[in-house]
Amino acid sequence: MSKVLIVDDELSMRMTLSEFVRREGYECDVASNAFEALKLFQQNPYDVLITDIMMPRMTGIELMEKIRDIDADCKIIILTGEPTVETAIRAVQSQANDYLAKPVIKDEFVHVVRRNVQDKRFADERKRLIKENELYQRHLEEMVAQRTHALVKSMSSTITLISQIVEYRDPYTAGHQRRVGNCSAKIAEWMGLSQDVIDSVRIIGYIHDIGKIVVPSEILSKPGKLSKPEFMLLQSHSQAGYEMLSDVNLPPIIAEAIYQHHERYDGSGYPRKLKGDQISLQAHILMVADVVEAMTSHRPYRPSLGLDVALKEIEDHAGTLFDASVSKACLELFRIGNYAFDDQLYEIIMPL
Ligand SMILES: [Fe+2]
Repeated sequence: MSKVLIVDDELSMRMTLSEFVRREGYECDVASNAFEALKLFQQNPYDVLITDIMMPRMTGIELMEKIRDIDADCKIIILTGEPTVETAIRAVQSQANDYLAKPVIKDEFVHVVRRNVQDKRFADERKRLIKENELYQRHLEEMVAQRTHALVKSMSSTITLISQIVEYRDPYTAGHQRRVGNCSAKIAEWMGLSQDVIDSVRIIGYIHDIGKIVVPSEILSKPGKLSKPEFMLLQSHSQAGYEMLSDVNLPPIIAEAIYQHHERYDGSGYPRKLKGDQISLQAHILMVADVVEAMTSHRPYRPSLGLDVALKEIEDHAGTLFDASVSKACLELFRIGNYAFDDQLYEIIMPL
């Protein structure tokens, strides 16, 4: 039920007006001065305040200013026996909603009260709807955030699983993928690339040899030189990796960069002989890290060649086999940044 407060120092006025208000079906309280009104208002706000202006100690205008500080939405109707321009201006400044002159005419009074009660109801309803909408929006945002988090988590566990599968299959390269992933991320960081690129090259590195699970393990661990058919089978791993991952729900750059990780800047790589800009930035970074890591690691068919030889290989082929700026960053990372390979499995942050 709508609540109305009438403030007037004249008892008869309070009695008459409150009777009109109650007959309209509204709850009505009365106060004989502004202090009493303020006290009532502080205990329990009203929908409509009807106040006389000329009252001893605190005028209706002063009361209205105080009420506005407590409740900006209350509808205020002011009553006065002596309407002056100054009073009218102050009433407007204090955001009075209506203005009635004394003597009060019943029909006019009832009409004004009804209108203000109605306005207050609309305003309350509007406020309620806005609040409800905000809550709904917040709920929706929370839901999206939760689902996104779940999706990212499931993608991350897929990556970890894939990374482990390759290592079980090919223990000779145990740690190779993690070292390449971590080194690629460091090269990207050294180049000042975005966090998305840094995160994506780490992920691509962690699983880039997934296609090796289609290569017979005798070939993977063969100590001597591979025959041509064996070598071709080994080379098929980048395309096999791409095919395995292209239907998995992961960012497409992951499968694509894996497809490209044995291409070379000048088009001399495999399987598609892509060159320059046809190769993604992620794959350019990965191929450099892959070569340095592979050359510095022991293989069944040869011992480690050492870091100096590996870096010399990058230096000698910067701008031909390898992208020049990636090569430069890689050389600086090792020579100036004293980078050392690291085979930790860092938390996977999935760029969406
Ligand atoms: Fe590879």
